[in-house]
Amino acid sequence: MRLEGKIGLVTGASSGIGAATARFFANEGMAGVVVADINDELGEKVVAEINAGGGNAMYVHLDVSDEDQWIAAVAACVAKYGGVDVTMNNAGMSGPASRKKVEDTTLEIWNAMHAVNNTGVFLGMKHSIPEMRKRGGGSIINTSSIYGIMGSASGTAYHSAKGAVRMLTKAAAIQYAPEKIRVNSIHPGFADTGMTEELHAQPGERERRIGLIPLGRMGMPEDMAWGAVYLASDESSFVTALELVIDGGTIAQ
Ligand code: NAI
Repeated sequence: MRLEGKIGLVTGASSGIGAATARFFANEGMAGVVVADINDELGEKVVAEINAGGGNAMYVHLDVSDEDQWIAAVAACVAKYGGVDVTMNNAGMSGPASRKKVEDTTLEIWNAMHAVNNTGVFLGMKHSIPEMRKRGGGSIINTSSIYGIMGSASGTAYHSAKGAVRMLTKAAAIQYAPEKIRVNSIHPGFADTGMTEELHAQPGERERRIGLIPLGRMGMPEDMAWGAVYLASDESSFVTALELVIDGGTIAQ
């Protein structure tokens, strides 16, 4: 019961890291968990599973790049549970069209990657902070990536957006530390989720990536979710502006 009584909102919670985090948040005693995503069908399944297990969750349709939808999602959380203590800005996207070098990246893809992966985080913080202030503090967890710290042969716009999340997190952490609103980033390494399914199905690609991971296995959503539990809990009350890298040692080499 590490999160007993807290109220949390997780974006991109219909699948992968976000779904695992929403489940862990509920298991650790959160009084209310908002599962927010654009994939309504999968999101409702996550909510049903949490509630069947004795948790208290609700689904909210939220495209994180849309400010009006953010306002409505935060309002729904407050209406049902009375406030917001934890926001995990986790929704993200990549895909074949984004895995391009600078010259091959279209402006359309550039803008789409930044809208979800970076602007979505900005809007999530912007609309959660006033509610956290009312409760005397809070914890914001932003999902960046090891690709927000290191470069690779492609993925121009994704690297740019995830790097921006890393620094946006630090800026917000300093701005809101006096109000006890902590802001940290999680940097997952290579992991098996919906986002990587197509890439990891390509011959040899999953094995190539495992070869880059000193601990010798692919990451799982739960590996990242445990980090989110720590950052959401009061165990991390002296932790802000942290880059929590969960990558099996990949970027230490
Ligand atoms: P996933 O594809 O399983 O989950 C992402 C979720 O975000 C999906 O449910 C999707 O519907 C949702 N989503 C996409 N666009 C959205 C939008 N505009 N508004 C709201 N929700 C939206 O993938 P995964 O891996 O769980 O992704 C979670 C986060 O982890 C992402 O930010 C991703 O960039 C990051 N990440 C993942 C890594 C991996 O290897 N899987 C590595 C590093 C970072």
